[in-house]
Amino acid sequence: MSGLNGKVALVTGGTGGIGSAICVKLAQAGCKVVSTYVDEAQANDWKAKMTAAGYDFGLVKCDVGSFDDCKAMGEKVNAEYGGVDILVNNAGITKDGTFRKMSGDQWNAVLTVNLDSVFNVTKQFIDGMLGKSWGRVINISSINGQKGQFGQTNYSAAKAGMHGFTMALAQETAKKGITVNSISPGYIGTEMVMAIAEEVRNQIIAQIPVGRLGKPEEIAALVGFLASEDGAFITGANIAANGGQHMC
Ligand code: CAA
Repeated sequence: MSGLNGKVALVTGGTGGIGSAICVKLAQAGCKVVSTYVDEAQANDWKAKMTAAGYDFGLVKCDVGSFDDCKAMGEKVNAEYGGVDILVNNAGITKDGTFRKMSGDQWNAVLTVNLDSVFNVTKQFIDGMLGKSWGRVINISSINGQKGQFGQTNYSAAKAGMHGFTMALAQETAKKGITVNSISPGYIGTEMVMAIAEEVRNQIIAQIPVGRLGKPEEIAALVGFLASEDGAFITGANIAANGGQHMC
């Protein structure tokens, strides 16, 4: 992974399962990594664990679903770190339920946190990237944005929307040294997936040709590649990492 030494990376929801692996990967490549968080106690535990493992991550509190929160977070990060070179829009939630049972609150929460957030956060850093004529925006979408998922009209819509955003912004910024890409993980062995009822989860695993859940590190490796100089010709792409569960 060339060209990452000294770059500043912001990972939204970096204290979670996939987010943690992304933070570690980018730090190992020489980036200064900052993560957003919402839960103070969980973030402090994470920070202590990461510090013990030898990582010096920045933490900034931010509800990515709130534009005002993101604006304040952006001002703080830009002032403290001199801008963000690599933005990983990773924060996401699920509130699963079949459409007939889904409430407006379930719909709004997932669309706000998973999709509005991409606007709210990217808005704070794109001018800085344009000013430096270099930048990477990496949006963590999902297999379920590509194929849809029973019980996830909200999540599937938000994740498909993320990739629409990716393609449009990629076109607007390609000439300015910025790449914008989506990664669509399949089912990865994180708390989010372990929260699915065991019987349902086992049915899902049975549909994965490689026969197992993915590992967070397998997603982080892709982030590292896209962020590096080696990934400079890839923009507007949606890269799947799903063990063969969905091929397109
Ligand atoms: N396809 C077709 N029918 C299905 C089905 C499927 N995949 N899954 C369930 N059904 C059927 C059941 O057989 C049942 O049928 P009957 O009524 O005829 O018996 C019916 O649907 C159940 O409907 P309910 O509304 O009662 O559903 P429920 O409340 O029991 O469960 C659910 C709904 C909670 C959404 C459950 O289906 C579920 O957990 N699904 C998995 C959702 C999922 O994959 N979430 C991913 C979370 S992780 C993530 O999102 C990360 C990522 O990016 C991959």
